[in-house]
Amino acid sequence: MSTSSVMRPGSVALVTGASSGIGQAVAEDLIEAGLRVICLGRSQEQLGKLFGMRDDSALPLALDVTDADFAERLESALPKGWREIDILIASAGSDVGGRRRFNEGVIEDWAQTIDTNVTGLMRVCHALLPAMLERGRGHVVTLGSVAGLYTYSGSAAYAPSKHAVHAFTDSLRKDFPDAPVRITEIMPGLVRTGFAAARHKGDTAKAEAWYDDSPGYLSAQDVSASVMFALSQPDNVNIAQILVMPTGDK
Ligand SMILES: NC(=O)c1ccc[n+]([C@@H]2O[C@H](COP(=O)([O-])OP(=O)(O)OC[C@H]3O[C@@H](n4cnc5c(N)ncnc54)[C@H](OP(=O)(O)O)[C@@H]3O)[C@@H](O)[C@H]2O)c1
Repeated sequence: MSTSSVMRPGSVALVTGASSGIGQAVAEDLIEAGLRVICLGRSQEQLGKLFGMRDDSALPLALDVTDADFAERLESALPKGWREIDILIASAGSDVGGRRRFNEGVIEDWAQTIDTNVTGLMRVCHALLPAMLERGRGHVVTLGSVAGLYTYSGSAAYAPSKHAVHAFTDSLRKDFPDAPVRITEIMPGLVRTGFAAARHKGDTAKAEAWYDDSPGYLSAQDVSASVMFALSQPDNVNIAQILVMPTGDK
């Protein structure tokens, strides 16, 4: 039976958004599977707490995906032995100031959502894909959302950002139909993470109430299981998209 050429002990993966939620769960599962993981977020302190004591299996690295110098900063920050990145999990994303009507929101918040979720995600892919193509192996997994398929009131920036991730990921896969680099989009429904607290700018009580009032939600580990499924397929199988919903969601 053929296997994945990148999902192997010792392979290097880079996970954006590793300091919380889905990215953190995927980083932990990859480390558990024997990979070496570059864990990205904006807070070195938080990343250090989560991944600082893992010897050679994790490299916590504070980088902002909205930074125009992202590629240069990444290149200069990576020590020898961490530069051949075979797997990218693009999980960093937010909906800061969202879930309110467009006119009631702040334009800087709407713009930040687009900048992080769309431009930031493209920036990270642009930084890593060329070397994957050159080496002839790689797997890029983007975190889209069910909000990439439909909209709801209060999603004026988030839904367009995830529609863009959906179109971008599909277009990217079509750019390289014959290349040995696979491209996957994971589209979760509601996941109980730090996402709602970030949306409400640190108001955790509001965030917890939101999850408690929801008919159902996934855990970050549930979503990571879908990511690991896509990564573990043999090289001739490209899981293009996975829509993963909590039971009970209509
Ligand atoms: N939770 C859900 O219901 C849900 C559903 C569908 C899809 N998703 C998607 O899944 C992905 C992960 O969300 P989550 O639920 O895990 O949320 P989360 O717990 O809030 O985690 C978001 C992560 O993104 C990082 N991040 C945000 N802005 C960043 C930036 N500019 N540069 C670098 N890192 C940044 C955060 O780290 P710092 O703030 O420390 O930088 C954090 O590690 C997102 O793309 C989200 O849109 C979530």
